[in-house]
Amino acid sequence: MIKVKSVRSNLLVMSLIVVFAFSLAEAKEYGDIYMDATRDGMEKAEVGAVVFPHWFHRIRYKCKVCHESIFVMRKGANNANMNDIMDGKSCGVCHNGQIAWEPLECERCHSAEFKPKADEAASNQ
Ligand code: HEC
Ligand code: HEC
Ligand code: HEC
Repeated sequence: MIKVKSVRSNLLVMSLIVVFAFSLAEAKEYGDIYMDATRDGMEKAEVGAVVFPHWFHRIRYKCKVCHESIFVMRKGANNANMNDIMDGKSCGVCHNGQIAWEPLECERCHSAEFKPKADEAASNQ
């Protein structure tokens, strides 16, 4: 009897560990999304790279609020830019001063240092 019980509780502990590890992996995968497709324009305007806090938004909205009517579910596939945002599209669907703060608060989105470009990173090794 005792043996069976401990096997069961070991199984329970093991499955809890699996669930926990899975949610950590998921949190990492869908965490902050670094966006720098328009790096040249951003550097000219002297703003940083964009960090989109995916998790922060995911806990507030259902996926379908954004996918796929505003954003395709693939990093870098949306040609996001400031004209659209100021025009009430892309991030500007919400960041319009009504649903969320206005796009005039540049550094709240442009909050990151640029990462080395892929070719620079390769030549630095
Ligand atoms: C507030 C809007 C918003 C919500 C809500 C949202 N996402 Fe996203 N999601 C984005 C944006 C923006 C990107 C990045 C697109 C880009 O880089 O062009 C993205 C990217 C993704 C990607 C691609 C990641 C990659 O590395 O390629 C996946 C997968 C994804 N979302 C899944 C989800 C799921 C699942 C949910 C709901 C649980 C969700 N998203 C909710 C805006 C949102
Ligand atoms: C579906 C609506 C929606 C869309 C689309 C959206 N946001 Fe947001 N975002 C919000 C709301 C709501 C908040 C919280 C506002 C507040 O706290 O006053 C927020 C907050 C933020 C924050 C602050 C997070 C923090 O930790 O306080 C950042 C940064 C941000 N958004 C960036 C973006 C970027 C970049 C995009 C486009 C890629 C985007 N958002 C698209 C609704 C949206
Ligand atoms: C709600 C988030 C958000 C805010 C606020 C915001 N931006 Fe952006 N910005 C973005 C996103 C997303 C991109 C596209 C990133 C990418 O994929 O390269 C972008 C791209 C840019 C670009 C390069 C592309 C283009 O359209 O010219 C410039 C320049 C820029 N932003 C300047 C600014 C300035 C200046 C402000 C403040 C007046 C500002 N941004 C505020 C999200 C934001």
